[in-house]
Amino acid sequence: MNIGSDRMEPLVRVEDIHTYYGKSHVLHGVSLEVGRGEVVGLLGRNGVGKSTTLKAIMGLVRPALGRVLFEGQPVTHLQADKVARLGIAYVPEDRRIFGLLTVTENLRTGLDRRGVTDARKKELLDKAHQYFPVLAERRNQAGGTLSGGEQQMLAIARAMMLEPKIILLDEPTEGLMPRMVSQIHRIIDVLRAEGVAILLVEQNVPLTLEASQRIYLMEKGVVRHHALASELRVTDPVIHQYLGV
Ligand SMILES: Nc1ncnc2c1ncn2[C@@H]1O[C@H](COP(=O)(O)OP(=O)(O)OP(=O)(O)O)[C@@H](O)[C@H]1O
Ligand SMILES: [Mg+2]
Repeated sequence: MNIGSDRMEPLVRVEDIHTYYGKSHVLHGVSLEVGRGEVVGLLGRNGVGKSTTLKAIMGLVRPALGRVLFEGQPVTHLQADKVARLGIAYVPEDRRIFGLLTVTENLRTGLDRRGVTDARKKELLDKAHQYFPVLAERRNQAGGTLSGGEQQMLAIARAMMLEPKIILLDEPTEGLMPRMVSQIHRIIDVLRAEGVAILLVEQNVPLTLEASQRIYLMEKGVVRHHALASELRVTDPVIHQYLGV
């Protein structure tokens, strides 16, 4: 492969994946790409397979057909922890905060990995505190005592501690108050400015159109439509067709 084509290689490429839960065929050939540093929105009604797509990229569900490439290399056969080590972080819908661990201990779970010096750990923790001042205030509090919005911030901050090349964000604003939604929006913009790619699954269409560069619309286990976010409006017929809003 020459350097020119290498540069064109997307960070993540999902190629025609099919997944099943038991006999239930959930993804019917999903294909999508996320470029380096790109924020891509994945929209669709409940149950169309958005979360399953993220789990398939992460190695948490195994596609029966198709493949997932990261930086041009197939990762479809890898376990989730190996995928994470390559530079893919995942913030699931239910956030998976360790309720009995303090905020700092939660963040440290992302820092205790090979090759991270103490100085680098401190830098990363400082960065989390700078981006999310509320986490600094609550650093010694148990994760389980935080509000929903604060837990979401902790989940994103913990993902950042892994210094990922991409974060898969599953409905980060679900159930949050408007003030918290704007903070999540702001942090997506900050990550993008830092060159971290994001694959954003959301129900909040205005936020997704504003925060993303490109949009995929899913319906019943396939991607039906693909557009630049700047070409779409919340009131677009295509948004109405696939999201019913
Ligand atoms: N562990 C599971 N076992 C069996 N079926 C599942 C499982 N997880 C999801 N499904 C089913 O697979 C389909 C796709 O689910 P998925 O969670 O990927 O959808 P989604 O687009 O993320 O939906 P939502 O908007 O509700 O989060 C749904 O019909 C769902 O009921
Ligand atoms: Mg989901």
